Amino acid sequence: MSMIETKKAPRRKLSAPDVSLVIPTYNEKANIAPLVEAVRSALGDIPWEIIIVDDDSPDQTFAEVSRLAREEPRLRCLRRVGRRGLSSAVIEGALVANGSAIAVMDADFQHDERILKQMYEKLTSTGADIVVATRYAEGGGIGEWDATRAKMSDFATRMAGMLVGNQTSDPMSGFFMVRREIFASVIYDLSQQGYKILLDIISSSHTPLKIEEVPYVFRARQEGESKISVMVLAQFLFLIIEKLTHGLIPPRFALFSIVGGFGLLVHLAILNGLKLAGFTFIAAQLTATFIAMVSNFVMNNEFTYRDRRLTGLSFLAGLILFCVVCSFGALANVGVAEIAIHQFGNWSLAGLAGAIMGAVFNFSAATSLVWRRPRKRVVSVAA
Ligand code: GDD
Ligand code: MN
Repeated sequence: MSMIETKKAPRRKLSAPDVSLVIPTYNEKANIAPLVEAVRSALGDIPWEIIIVDDDSPDQTFAEVSRLAREEPRLRCLRRVGRRGLSSAVIEGALVANGSAIAVMDADFQHDERILKQMYEKLTSTGADIVVATRYAEGGGIGEWDATRAKMSDFATRMAGMLVGNQTSDPMSGFFMVRREIFASVIYDLSQQGYKILLDIISSSHTPLKIEEVPYVFRARQEGESKISVMVLAQFLFLIIEKLTHGLIPPRFALFSIVGGFGLLVHLAILNGLKLAGFTFIAAQLTATFIAMVSNFVMNNEFTYRDRRLTGLSFLAGLILFCVVCSFGALANVGVAEIAIHQFGNWSLAGLAGAIMGAVFNFSAATSLVWRRPRKRVVSVAA
């Protein structure tokens, strides 16, 4: 006899899921239980599984999922530690999915889970590769958004159109269903940056995709708060740059250079202003350099390195370090320009070579010294 008493409960047959629902979460504890219920009634007799990908939420969403999973084996939690990011969370969740269709949905009830069944039926009946839940087609809507958010979304949707044309009316949707083999076919090409996983999948596909849509009305968030921020905007720019340059130019470097170009405009504007005010050239040049450096620092802190943003005392320390780095960058710039002028004798070419050297130097030094990778958050939790 074994030591362990085995109960003779009738074995429930677990069938392989048709739909794997991947739900990224960050501080969504209060939404989990009602969400699982809502999905259960929305999908009815279609076999499903739910994979919650939680980035070690401070509110311990992962513990809530584990608790519920004891009663509901179709629910699982993938807890990621020391990582953040919506796209990468979705991708990793999709990689452990077993369903023939992978659906992606938010945890906050803004995406109307009641259309999940319709989405699955459309996927199978039309043979589509992706079914997008859209806010921008007949029958859909953006709900209670204020004018600013609506304009931002509209602008982002147009920008996204640069990448994917008019294949879908809502390329920024975070709510869609994709065939698992389509997802598998783009896995190595996904940028994994930011929020725009659907846009990432469509723009990464090597062959044109058959895309169908189901309209829905975006709802107000049930519990908790939105994580969308300037960060999301910066990451969106990253994705557009990366896809448009086919990964040739690192997006962070592109943003850094755009900020640098903007700083040059600031510099020239101030220089000319001070000239009118009667400053000597050297005084005006020094002032303009300093102000341009500060403005570059602030812009890089807001956008280029949004994910590592410095505040308070580290902001000041970072600013000083950034000025020191830029001074060395200027030396590198002049050094290379000098070599180039002897080599080619062409002023513009030498100037350009120097500027590129300066930018690359500043970028690498800023990335490794000023905005260093944040240290890991250490928390002790009972899971
Ligand atoms: N794992 C993980 N990691 N999940 C995250 C993270 C993260 O860093 N950031 C956000 N989430 C989760 C949230 O918990 C939520 O379930 C979902 O991702 C969406 O986050 P929100 O903060 O609610 O985003 P939103 O409502 O402003 O924007 C959403 O809807 C838009 C319209 O469809 C997103 O899905 C956008 O991508 C989408 O465009
Ligand atoms: Mn939301």
